Amino acid sequence: MAIIFHQQTKEFHLFNNELSYIIEIMDNGQLGNLYYGKKIHDRDSFQHLHEEQKRSMGASHTESSPLLFLEYTKQEYPSYGTGDFRYPAFEIKQENGSRISHFTYVSHTIYSGKKKIEPLPAVYVESEEEADTLEIELYDDMMQTRLILTYTLFTNSPVLTRHAKFVHEGNTEICLTSALSASVDLVDMDYEMVHLSGAWSRERYVKTRKLEHGVQSVHSMRGASSLEHNPFLALKRPETTEFDGEVLGFSLVYSGSFLAQVEVSTHDLTRVSMGIHPNNFEWTLNQGETFQTPELVMVYSNQGLNGMSQTYHQLYRTRLARGYWRDRERPVLLNNWEATYMDFNEDKIITIAKKAKEVGVELFVLDDGWFGTRNDDTQGLGDWFVNTDKLPNGIRGLSEKVEELGMKFGLWIEPEMANKNSDLYRAHPDWLISTPNRLDSFSRTQHVLDYSRKEVVDYIHEMVSKVIRESKISYIKWDMNRYITECYSHGASADEQGKVMHRYILGVYDLYTRLINEFPEILFESCSSGGGRFDPGMLYFAPQTWTSDDSDAIERLKIQYGTSMVYPISSIGAHVSAVPNHQIKRMTPLKTRGNVAYFGAFGYELDLNTLTDEEIEIVREQIAYVKENRKLIHQGRFYRLLSPFENQETAWMVVSLDQSQAIAAYYQSLNYVNASWLRFKLKGLDPNKKYKVTNEYISHEAYGDELMEIGIVIRRKWLNLEGGDFGSLIFNITEKSD
Ligand code: DGJ
Repeated sequence: MAIIFHQQTKEFHLFNNELSYIIEIMDNGQLGNLYYGKKIHDRDSFQHLHEEQKRSMGASHTESSPLLFLEYTKQEYPSYGTGDFRYPAFEIKQENGSRISHFTYVSHTIYSGKKKIEPLPAVYVESEEEADTLEIELYDDMMQTRLILTYTLFTNSPVLTRHAKFVHEGNTEICLTSALSASVDLVDMDYEMVHLSGAWSRERYVKTRKLEHGVQSVHSMRGASSLEHNPFLALKRPETTEFDGEVLGFSLVYSGSFLAQVEVSTHDLTRVSMGIHPNNFEWTLNQGETFQTPELVMVYSNQGLNGMSQTYHQLYRTRLARGYWRDRERPVLLNNWEATYMDFNEDKIITIAKKAKEVGVELFVLDDGWFGTRNDDTQGLGDWFVNTDKLPNGIRGLSEKVEELGMKFGLWIEPEMANKNSDLYRAHPDWLISTPNRLDSFSRTQHVLDYSRKEVVDYIHEMVSKVIRESKISYIKWDMNRYITECYSHGASADEQGKVMHRYILGVYDLYTRLINEFPEILFESCSSGGGRFDPGMLYFAPQTWTSDDSDAIERLKIQYGTSMVYPISSIGAHVSAVPNHQIKRMTPLKTRGNVAYFGAFGYELDLNTLTDEEIEIVREQIAYVKENRKLIHQGRFYRLLSPFENQETAWMVVSLDQSQAIAAYYQSLNYVNASWLRFKLKGLDPNKKYKVTNEYISHEAYGDELMEIGIVIRRKWLNLEGGDFGSLIFNITEKSD
């Protein structure tokens, strides 16, 4: 058991081979933190780590320890107003208007395994040996409310998960005005904060900033985790690199509005707080009611950012993603969006599909424009019945034809939205999220359906599952193309409006759950104007996500590099598209477009009939290459080698878990003239194994140590042959048995 309670000193030590996390029950009954970091030996007492000191203006909340000033104390789930003036983990408004609370330790349980928190998504275990869990129960006598803090420590990886639950037992109503998932206090501020930020078509750029006194945060108040900020942050030491040094990762398993905040006190204590964004959040609890927060997944690494990412990849690919497709090889798909947009009919689609089949595509996906009066983006959303002008044989007829060609068929839906120009809106105008007597903001002329209402989810469920039932559908791309504005539910009372944002996301999870239960073999790909909801919550339901609407290979280097900070390669939807690229008008070599998309859930986003014979040959080779290597790429260990945020070069590689095989990719953005020699150093190989390194230019042998210490000698002329600007090289590395 990796969780020990030291009765005498009232300390919990959670540890595995890599990390230690020490909690104490303080003199005032609240929970303090004594340490979070690299694994240390267990001992009976860590009390000397608890620091108290007389400080002017300090306020103590207990007579027995007059120097226990909460403001200077590291805590587990702090409240505001009893001496701690930093941002709290939660706040509860009580009947008399007070917001002061005092939760003290009552009991705890330690058990093997990990419990689910459904309907919320969370990481899971497959056997009890994989993790141990500590539940600590605290109680506030005045409110008569229980608070249960849950910690799960994975046995064989540096992963600690946390969430909180409030159980109200008192007979007067209370209102949670903030209930974050966790708060983590650290003893110094010598960190840099790494986060993933951007906007439409440039999602998840890696940003790094030094911590300063005060608050630094990223957040979403958009009703979705968002294109702008990802529900993730890491704290790394200034000297930490991709491969060395300490990193603390924090990733929230949630798809709605969130806050990820770091507050540094002027005594240099660092507080990380993460959870549902308190703005627009008010959760009333009556007697017997409970509130469960989403889960925070903390990863400890002393092997730099790559070490952290590899832990997240392994965990999220195998213990967050679920179901039929979790470990299966993902089909090579072709999506018609950039090929036709909404301008298609059955003949056009079949012509595109036939060519796709010819070169080896396994799944054809029909994107937006197939339903209602959806000829442009001003109408039809919400009417999930086929447009027979475009598709006279319906989705059923089309899907059968595609299957007859020898491919699977996939379909795009955007089930959370409606256009006002739709039968759905005309029949149920109160089903949109909108504030009475106020203007509904416009965004792509569409509006958000009120998924906080069960009847709305029921209705959409019925419509969508009918389409799936009646046709041959193997894949669903679930899109979501606008944020929530004028947040208000016409189905909720005035005092329940603060629940709408969270209930909305629970409604989304509910529809996913129903569809997955009904159609367990369907592969879901989540999407939100590209990567607007690329978050761990979605990964629980959909094992892959359309990463970005920017399909340009060179733009994708940054996007995929940033996304790989947390998310496994198998989840990163990546397609080869046409040139000039539709988003940025750039011309890139077809081979480079493939070489970038290989490191994701691979597909095409163009009409292959427009390519030359020579290009079609390249496409054939690309598809054959993916089929041969997708298992290695998706299930191997991924290493970021050179950052596109620093130079004109990007490189990454993947190594099989047994270190017998690897693929390394080197990409050049702009070319250099008369440049220096180029050595491309690899990682993750076995130094003592002999490998064969091959591509179209080389074929030689080398030990792993040579490939990692000296690297592969790259001739600039190869890059010129690959196009110069935007050229790229793939190296196949296979263990050579003597
Ligand atoms: C946004 C998505 O990201 C695109 O791939 C495409 O599906 C469009 N929506 C369709 O409206």
